[in-house]
Amino acid sequence: MSERMPSVLLGVSGSIAAYKAVEVARLLGKAGVRVQVAMTRGGTEFVRPLTFAAITGREVLTDVFQVASPGGGAEIGHVERAHQVDLVLVAPASANVMARMVAGMADDPLTATILSTRAPVMIAPAMESGMWMHPATQDNLACLEERGVKVVGPVTGELASGRAGMGRMAEPDVIVRAALAILRPGDLTGLGITITAGPTWEPLDPVRILTNRSTGAMGIAIAQAAQRRGAQVRLILGPTHLTPPPGVDVRRVETAAEMLAAAQAVLPGTDVFVATAAVSDFRPQQARDQKLKRSAPEAQTLALAENPDVLATISSALRARGAARPATVVGFAAETEAVEDNARDKLVRKGCDLVIGNLVGPEAGFGAGQTRVLAVARDRPAVAFGPALKGDVAEFVLDQVLRVRDGSTPEERGA
Ligand code: CTP
Repeated sequence: MSERMPSVLLGVSGSIAAYKAVEVARLLGKAGVRVQVAMTRGGTEFVRPLTFAAITGREVLTDVFQVASPGGGAEIGHVERAHQVDLVLVAPASANVMARMVAGMADDPLTATILSTRAPVMIAPAMESGMWMHPATQDNLACLEERGVKVVGPVTGELASGRAGMGRMAEPDVIVRAALAILRPGDLTGLGITITAGPTWEPLDPVRILTNRSTGAMGIAIAQAAQRRGAQVRLILGPTHLTPPPGVDVRRVETAAEMLAAAQAVLPGTDVFVATAAVSDFRPQQARDQKLKRSAPEAQTLALAENPDVLATISSALRARGAARPATVVGFAAETEAVEDNARDKLVRKGCDLVIGNLVGPEAGFGAGQTRVLAVARDRPAVAFGPALKGDVAEFVLDQVLRVRDGSTPEERGA
């Protein structure tokens, strides 16, 4: 990260979610980011520019021919501004502004800057479900993504109409975290991170296994985010149909015993150990060489043996095979109730430095792929995050890893 303050152009377009952009601007400022707001005409219908000017301390751009002097200094127009920003963040991004970005319009300060900039562009779409699902919007989305525009959200939730559906803007803290991840790509450089992910397969005989429904998506998302942020990533992956991120060192395993052995083998290079795997707690006592016959007396009752706890074993590894315990050990706790209490219990019981608890089951009530998590560490208040998509949760988890490693988040450090 360069020494100078990172600079974000926050574009506010016409959506009821524009009021939440005020919080986005405030959180970015708190994280040490210089924020210049540009509003489309639609945006100004929902929130007055004065609100943003008061929050950011800078005049808001509303006219493409306007030359403003952000934070003093020489007055600049959109071309110069386009070279100075480190990120253009459009939050909320209405269906209309997405369409205008696709078309390459430049008739307001936001779209004019987007057309001129070489900085990354990120959008946080917000609109009614019907508009979001419309083929025109979906085509525009695909086009923008293909051009490299990053997209955060939207999520399922209550919409302006009062109905629930897809199209609600991601929460401000989720958007800010995603923006900071772009602004600070290398904050994990030099760290060795090992992640377990996916289910395990515990064989009963050559054709049958004991397993669970885990896909490994969370661990894969963390691996991807950690690699982008500069870490040396090893992913110990149980059987899954998902493709691991390119460039990550992947070790494929099937059983809990193999997962533990693979984790122990890489201990010397592991500073941070993250256990997301849904390890089967038990395995069939006997893995038979031949297929168990229906008529066999043992077919009626399955004798089980306890599997090793990969997480607890790694966190208690003192000098196992000459390698010290990783400095930071992170566990996950999927709970159906009392998330914080259960996560704190797991923190102590499994000797972790951080436990990420999440509510699962029908109670969770979020749309597909969205989760709400709670980070629990010793002697600190719990930190809640979400509902958010797994990729955003991954960034949050890595921020919390940094927080427990050196006692503060990048935001708190204002890095
Ligand atoms: N874990 C592991 N090896 C196991 C079991 C769990 O590494 N054999 C790790 C998971 O990857 C996750 C955490 O431990 O990080 C989750 O623990 P979990 O199995 O859900 O909790 P339990 O210890 O089984 O407690 P309980 O069933 O009481 O919730």
